[in-house]
Amino acid sequence: MTENTPSVLLTGGAGYIGSHTFVALAEAGYQPVILDDFSNSHPAVLERLAQLTGRRVPCEKGNVLDTAFVAEVLQRHRCVAAVHFAGVKAVGESVQQPLMYYRNNVSGLLSLLEAMAGTTACRSVVFSSSATVYGNPASVPIDEGFPCAPESPYAQSKLMCENILASLRASDPSWRTGVLRYFNPVGAHPTGLIGEDPSGIPNNLMPFVTQVAVGKRARLQVFGSDYPTPDGTGVRDYLHVSDLADGHVAAVQALLAKGESFTVNLGTGQGTSVLGVVRAFERASGRPIPFEFAPRRAGDVAQYFADVSLARGVLGWRATRGIEEMCRDSWHWQQRNPDGYRTQTSDTAMHMPAPVRNSPNGPMRPVVSA
Ligand code: NAD
Ligand code: UD1
Repeated sequence: MTENTPSVLLTGGAGYIGSHTFVALAEAGYQPVILDDFSNSHPAVLERLAQLTGRRVPCEKGNVLDTAFVAEVLQRHRCVAAVHFAGVKAVGESVQQPLMYYRNNVSGLLSLLEAMAGTTACRSVVFSSSATVYGNPASVPIDEGFPCAPESPYAQSKLMCENILASLRASDPSWRTGVLRYFNPVGAHPTGLIGEDPSGIPNNLMPFVTQVAVGKRARLQVFGSDYPTPDGTGVRDYLHVSDLADGHVAAVQALLAKGESFTVNLGTGQGTSVLGVVRAFERASGRPIPFEFAPRRAGDVAQYFADVSLARGVLGWRATRGIEEMCRDSWHWQQRNPDGYRTQTSDTAMHMPAPVRNSPNGPMRPVVSA
């Protein structure tokens, strides 16, 4: 790293996707700079990032809503681009607390853009959007030309941000924006040093499965067994978080090469059912995942997976890791860090569960509820 290494601001860079992107950007020759208020992350991630990258981890603690603070950080680090991860992301919570969602997600982006507008050099921004903007699609695979029909305040907030970016581009062509619509990010860094650390009971499938495997939760509830899918359970496009991080590097590079702005799906293009994830996880961990069928979850759709050809064409990016690798790395992270970032590194070995072998018929056994 030299004086001339280009700095890239990562708002929300201490979080799940931001931390993996930190590593990928550092490996690609950038100096990532984290701005995070740690409302949904743990400071221990910073030591892990230093360990992984072998370099200092610039981190500015504060709120992205504080425009003057963001502007000062952008200027002090001479950032040439920003990746905006900071925000809140639980669909159910957004229905309960819509104002908090619009404030954080929409005002957060506005604050970042206003801060960038006050600098001379930083006009390139990558935005974390979500496939949830498509709502309930008429068919799969979903391409970027599908209509957006957000069904929750969270999804609305993401679409509003996309529209703000479009207006800004229209007003001044020097702005370059990369909108990334993520499908279902899962997995962890293969070292097990960084990963997803949800607080409380996980809403999402993979963190729940890993907690069942490690014995923190008794069994998984499979929401719905009568969907029009091959095995009746919901199908999603799971994407390894390291592939997603590489997608951000490609996006930053494309914008800095003065390419066109873009809006692309990031997924694998492959659908996997809930039972498919359970089976893959059992193979990866050698542990049974007890489960029971439960009613469909409100708001869920049967199938959701991406057409990924645009990302390939525009960014030259494609996902290279499959569901087995996603499960293996999620399991490795969970084993090394049963209490997430609150796990002391020196204690990790003591928490390592003994390996359990699969039976010849596989360990999958549905648990019937009483
Ligand atoms: P995360 O919660 O792990 O990371 C977000 C980070 O932003 C956290 O470290 C949090 O402390 C920080 N933050 C939140 N509000 C802030 C604020 N006002 N100021 C400063 N920092 C703030 O979430 P993630 O899974 O890494 O998601 C990152 C982004 O990707 C989010 O915008 C999310 O909506 C989007 N996204 C995530 C998924 C997913 O499945 N994880 C899917 C689609 C889109
Ligand atoms: C959810 C969000 C989406 C967000 C994504 C990633 C909703 C409606 N959508 O997507 O906006 O971008 O997370 O954060 O919340 N499942 C179970 N048991 C569980 C948990 C999940 O069977 O305990 C099933 C679900 O019904 C679904 C699949 O697993 O079929 C994946 O669920 P999840 O990981 O929550 O992701 P999405 O619902 O796709």
